Amino acid sequence: MSVQALKRSGGSIAETVLEANAGYLSGFGNGFETEALPGALPIGRNSPQKCPYGLYAEQLSGSPFTAPRTTNERSWLYRIRPTVNHWGEFEKVDIGLWRTAPASEVEAPLAPMRWDPIAIPNEALSLLDGIRTITTAGDAGSQAGMGAHVYLITRSMQDEYFYNADGEMLFVPQQGNLRFCTEFGVIEVEPGEIAVIPRGVKIRAELTGGPARGYMCENYGGAFTLPERGPIGANCLANQRDFLTPVAAYEDKDAPSRLYVKWGGSLWATNIGHSPLDVVAWHGNYAPYKYDLRRYSPVGPILFDHADPSIFTVLTSPSETPGTANIDFVIFSDRWLVAENTFRPPWYHMNVMSEFMGLVYGQYDAKPHGFAPGGISLHNTMLPHGPDVDAFEGASNADLKPHKLEGTLAFMFETRFPQRVSAYAAGAAEFQKGYSAYGQRLKKNFNPRQR
Ligand SMILES: [Fe+2]
Repeated sequence: MSVQALKRSGGSIAETVLEANAGYLSGFGNGFETEALPGALPIGRNSPQKCPYGLYAEQLSGSPFTAPRTTNERSWLYRIRPTVNHWGEFEKVDIGLWRTAPASEVEAPLAPMRWDPIAIPNEALSLLDGIRTITTAGDAGSQAGMGAHVYLITRSMQDEYFYNADGEMLFVPQQGNLRFCTEFGVIEVEPGEIAVIPRGVKIRAELTGGPARGYMCENYGGAFTLPERGPIGANCLANQRDFLTPVAAYEDKDAPSRLYVKWGGSLWATNIGHSPLDVVAWHGNYAPYKYDLRRYSPVGPILFDHADPSIFTVLTSPSETPGTANIDFVIFSDRWLVAENTFRPPWYHMNVMSEFMGLVYGQYDAKPHGFAPGGISLHNTMLPHGPDVDAFEGASNADLKPHKLEGTLAFMFETRFPQRVSAYAAGAAEFQKGYSAYGQRLKKNFNPRQR
């Protein structure tokens, strides 16, 4: 992406689109380096007495300084103004329907819950207006747990900027494309892709087409990373080279602007006179990225049985307890089912983890009906769940030829913490009141005289 394409002075940002695909660096957690002006990155040191082009050096740390190398995250940003210069007097503003753990607004029923797709309203909603919290888990102040949200966006942010101090944000678009203009460069995503914006990274979220709807996981805990592959070896699942981090791009723009910060569960705002997306060069391993879920290489049973869904983990936010994730981001995408003499859909199940599911497109094999793209289901800690009667009868009597699940993309935000349902979600018109009884339709088939 050329510098000129992004160094705009009031021009349309649409000109960036043409070159955006060339504007990424490949890899996961690399020590990236990128500059939008030649020589803007200091060589051989991070903080020279004077930075090239009169820039300020600023370090953004995503981990404590002393974190082990494997989890130590920081980047050096060379910017027109340091972040302290973007700092005015902040006022608390309405956070709308965005909630932060701990939040126990309602006593949710002890039952599986499900929602139809949340309708996109006919009103102007920026990213900040359009967050609808469905569940919260853990405690953001203790850096544990998550918020699971739906976003509904009908307008781009204009001279408005935002960073989230409470958590990293994983966006899963379901309808409509998004462009994240960030301090680190530009990320564009469409349904089928995800974007991850680390804690503290300033963004402006824009639409590039029609209204957008999707899911957002706000991760209060350890940054998302790739799961270990164990005996699978060095390949398959999500491969490092398919993760894309933007090249440096900046705005040198003086205009009345508003900077929003989510901090401590509240939303704060201040007026500033310029764009804070003014990073001309940066290096480090703490940066936003995108990933195309259609590049995920699933591994599964090739003779019999149904593997645990952890085999489909794309990203994991580890907790201090090995194997007990703060969050696992898991997908159910196109794949062949070949297992012999096997009940192929997910088995009946109770789990110490709690499961928030969404559907980007297609049909989910355990719930052929009632779980529409854009919908949500919640199977909380130690609550029973499994295939509905249609899925059970179908799979119990299916001809077990190799069968390809095609055109489907469901996902799960799974956390070790129980999920609290927001008052908004409990009262939403899209809440399916009858869902909790789906298991009662399963018949008794037991016959002691017939094996
Ligand atoms: Fe489950």
